[in-house]
Amino acid sequence: MTAHILTEKQDHILLVRINRPERKNALTHAMYTALGDAVDQAHEDADIRCVLFTGSEDCFTAGNDLGDFAAGLPGDFQETPVGRFLFLLASASKPVVAAVNGPAVGIGTTMLLHCDLVFAGNNTRFQMPFANLGLCPEGGSSLLLPSWLGRVRAAELLMLGGAFTADDAHRLGLINRVCEPANTEMAALDACNQLNAQAPAALRATKELLNRPTLDELKNTMLAEGERFAERLKSPEAAEAFRAFMEKRQPDFSKFH
Ligand code: COA
Repeated sequence: MTAHILTEKQDHILLVRINRPERKNALTHAMYTALGDAVDQAHEDADIRCVLFTGSEDCFTAGNDLGDFAAGLPGDFQETPVGRFLFLLASASKPVVAAVNGPAVGIGTTMLLHCDLVFAGNNTRFQMPFANLGLCPEGGSSLLLPSWLGRVRAAELLMLGGAFTADDAHRLGLINRVCEPANTEMAALDACNQLNAQAPAALRATKELLNRPTLDELKNTMLAEGERFAERLKSPEAAEAFRAFMEKRQPDFSKFH
């Protein structure tokens, strides 16, 4: 249980809100556990027809809590709170919708690759700064992005790790619609209500068929990424990047080879 993830059932929608504003909704182990539990709950509860992930009007999430990152990732990736959440999300049986605004950093972008419909405010800043932090891709992004966007676009997002706008994300085909931030959640709720009116077993079959061609490869990739990620977390490069964040300066990677 954590007060930083709020879940609420609303007309057959499981609304899951990331709520840690003082840390820009950065995700802790406890928050990943709650997010995974929410996906599980949606699967188990016949009254829930779809899941909506959101944050606030000015922040989706600043990604993994950097303090937790510095403490490393224990053991088998799939058993870690973040690994469990990603595996549950990637194989979710019911439609998953996201409404994002403001920062959507790291897993705040990669978790969207596993959502069925994504609505983003025009204030959204997507970013996958893994290499910038001495880390490597996660959440299946090293598989899904090159196959969806092409190799060089994926490399740009993952190797240069710069922020990109909702318009960019829309152009790249990563989101469905760009909204005014005050309307993002409403647009997503409207889509949820449309999903709720559809034949539920037909939607589950559609989702399963959309996922089927890549699901095994995706799981293998997430395991390989998780293993490499855990190694990178212990690297001197990552230590320098985390120190730099705490000291509010740019990291200096010049001494590494
Ligand atoms: N983990 C832990 N704390 C975080 C955090 C994170 N991922 N992101 C932000 N915070 C904290 C900040 O340290 C700051 O704390 P302070 O008030 O004690 O100084 C507070 O949240 C507010 O963040 P701030 O950076 O002042 O907000 P901003 O609006 O200027 O910038 C971001 C927002 C998201 C662009 C910026 O916080 C950021 O780049 N965060 C790190 C993102 C990241 O690298 N995530 C990991 C991805 S793999």
